[in-house]
Amino acid sequence: MTTQEEQTRPGLRFPPGFAFGAATSAYQIEGAAAEDGRGTSIWDTFTRTPGRVLNGHHADVAIDHYHRYRDDVRIMAGLGLSAYRFSVSWPRIQPDGSGQVNQKGLDFYKRLTEELRAHGIDPWLTLYHWDLPQELEDRGGWPNRDTAYRFAEFAAVVHDALKDHVHTFSTVNEPWCAAFLGYASGEHAPGRREPGNAIRGAHHLNLAHGLAVQAMDARRVGGCVNLYAISPATGSEADLDAARRIDGLQNRFFLDALLKGAYPEDVLADLPVDMDFVKPGDMKTVNAPIDVLLVNYYSRFTVSGAPGGKASAAAAPTETASPWVGSEHVSFVNGGHPVTAMGWEIDESGLVEILTRVARDYPPIPMVVSENGAAFDDVIVDGRVHDAERQAYVEAHLAACREAIDAGVPLEGYFAWSLMDNFEWAWGYGKRFGLVHVDFETQERLLKDSALWYSEIIRQNRHHEPTDS
Ligand code: FCB
Repeated sequence: MTTQEEQTRPGLRFPPGFAFGAATSAYQIEGAAAEDGRGTSIWDTFTRTPGRVLNGHHADVAIDHYHRYRDDVRIMAGLGLSAYRFSVSWPRIQPDGSGQVNQKGLDFYKRLTEELRAHGIDPWLTLYHWDLPQELEDRGGWPNRDTAYRFAEFAAVVHDALKDHVHTFSTVNEPWCAAFLGYASGEHAPGRREPGNAIRGAHHLNLAHGLAVQAMDARRVGGCVNLYAISPATGSEADLDAARRIDGLQNRFFLDALLKGAYPEDVLADLPVDMDFVKPGDMKTVNAPIDVLLVNYYSRFTVSGAPGGKASAAAAPTETASPWVGSEHVSFVNGGHPVTAMGWEIDESGLVEILTRVARDYPPIPMVVSENGAAFDDVIVDGRVHDAERQAYVEAHLAACREAIDAGVPLEGYFAWSLMDNFEWAWGYGKRFGLVHVDFETQERLLKDSALWYSEIIRQNRHHEPTDS
């Protein structure tokens, strides 16, 4: 064993081929909102609506990635990333959400993916990270079934244009958020508070996923879910029921649909809606075979059935309703873990728990952790950002990945959220998740200590890979 190998903590050594990545999304980083024919998305409208986003922030410029993508890819290459997960802006490709394709939009992603490949970085493309064309929202948004078909059309356009550049396509990022924060709590665009329509939207997002998978037949295709570890506050019947409900709506509603082709009966019984919008054949479509499951993981929820507690795990920055349709009575209690600047409890054991659970309870499917990371209140001191807490967070969760692999989980990669500080939805620029610090005035990028550390972990793992690959 060489000295370098000895330096690598065994728990942070990964099998050859394990992808070390970082993730971003289009609206959060690109900017160039009015350039090269981009249309309007629901986030453009939402950020213009008073009271919806902290300090009235919007992402017209964001971190100017549209113009700086070459420099940003150079940063990724410098870190040694083997993969990069990004999303495509639907209104850049189809300004009106259907029909007419904007070639300049496609060209941007061609340039980006060519640049990535030239640096040996595998592009992981996400089709939908919440920036629905406004035109489609005006026609009813996700509660309108037609949106799912429009999404499949968009998927086919992107797939045809980029299939030679991109190996892994994924469909909808975190359908739970798109449905329940967008249409029930109103924390995210389009900001509607219509519980029944949130469920319709959730089904149509799942349907959109399945239709898109079918439309992209030939490629390696994945679906993305955000999973939480859920604990009951006590062993009481009410708390156990609360945990079953939140686990049902957050995790099983999506996992069972995508991987088993059915909604869980107990969850359907909790919902205050007639599911007549689920048409014959839909669930078979939703269950279209995928090649990889993308799992976003951040935290554990501890829940109670006793009324009167907090309606969600962490405070929202704006006025919102409950996203927990049919289970609004559930309270979220302190689970006793340290928290990030978002107020999200840090518990890496939850990551092992959910990964092993998917491997145990569902048909076999390779997985990646497609987002994981933490916001902290970073400061620059003498040209450095000593973000020891973020580093510890990533280290603990990487070790959890290793533990899951040792337990037999087919886990193939890890993507840190996020590569760079960016526009954090309803929090605007108020929360920093990046490994790379961004000065939002000058757009200057600066590697935080966590980035330097991650880069070193990647380098040490390279050392173990066969040299002839
Ligand atoms: C996830 C989102 C991502 C980012 C992180 C912090 O839910 O997918 O865009 O906002 O949370």
